[in-house]
Amino acid sequence: MFNFNLYKENLSTDYFGQSIRYYPILDSTNNKAWDLVSENTDNGAIIITDNQTKGRGRQSNKWISIQERSLTFSIILYPNAVPNQINLYSLIAGLAITDCLIENNIQAQLKWPNDILINGKKVGGILCESKVSGGVIKSMVIGIGLNVNEKITDIPLELCNKATSLQIESGKQYQLETLLANILNRFEQRINTRDTNSQLLDWEERCAHLNKKVTFHTGNEIVTGIFKGLRSTDQAILIVNNKEVVFESGEII
Ligand code: BTN
Repeated sequence: MFNFNLYKENLSTDYFGQSIRYYPILDSTNNKAWDLVSENTDNGAIIITDNQTKGRGRQSNKWISIQERSLTFSIILYPNAVPNQINLYSLIAGLAITDCLIENNIQAQLKWPNDILINGKKVGGILCESKVSGGVIKSMVIGIGLNVNEKITDIPLELCNKATSLQIESGKQYQLETLLANILNRFEQRINTRDTNSQLLDWEERCAHLNKKVTFHTGNEIVTGIFKGLRSTDQAILIVNNKEVVFESGEII
């Protein structure tokens, strides 16, 4: 059961998470968020559930969560920004999450485009969806899934060498409400105070594979090269056969 008092005590934002919709059970917080967008729910409102039963990941993957152990929530924004800012929000979400984990002495890193890793294993992901019209982003739903208090037995066997949780890595238990409030505090602060360039530099500093050999899956192609960083919020640079190549989409395998 979500503890509203604990959440509010820790929240120091102007609008991120000031309006909160809590559901004991939901198929997907992103789905619910889109229903609420059509009712013009507040800018910065968040949707959270204790038990997400049909979480959606990027590229039509499933996102599995454990009741009251995983943090699963979505943020509604109406940014009125140009469409190339969509990825900026997604990168900032990853930075805000890693800010909080690092404050908790957890050495979290980022993997292009926006996976959260600890010791090379995935601990969190971000699903950023948007509706663009008339050349501006009218509405956006940023869904965040973070494995928090899962035990090793909660991780499906076939994912054990790829996925982890904060508790598995640190041996500690975390209050979901405090973590949520801190992520929102950091997210809003980053949007208000840091320009795109410094966000890109921060992202590169936290990147788990900067200057390392990576295999990139883009469209029907599989490319191997050295990851050299970000040219912009939606462009990753790789050195492939001694040539600089820029990718605007794709996944690191
Ligand atoms: C990914 O890494 O593929 C992104 C995973 C995003 C999962 C979150 S959990 C909360 C929100 N609701 C969803 O259905 N998905 C996102």
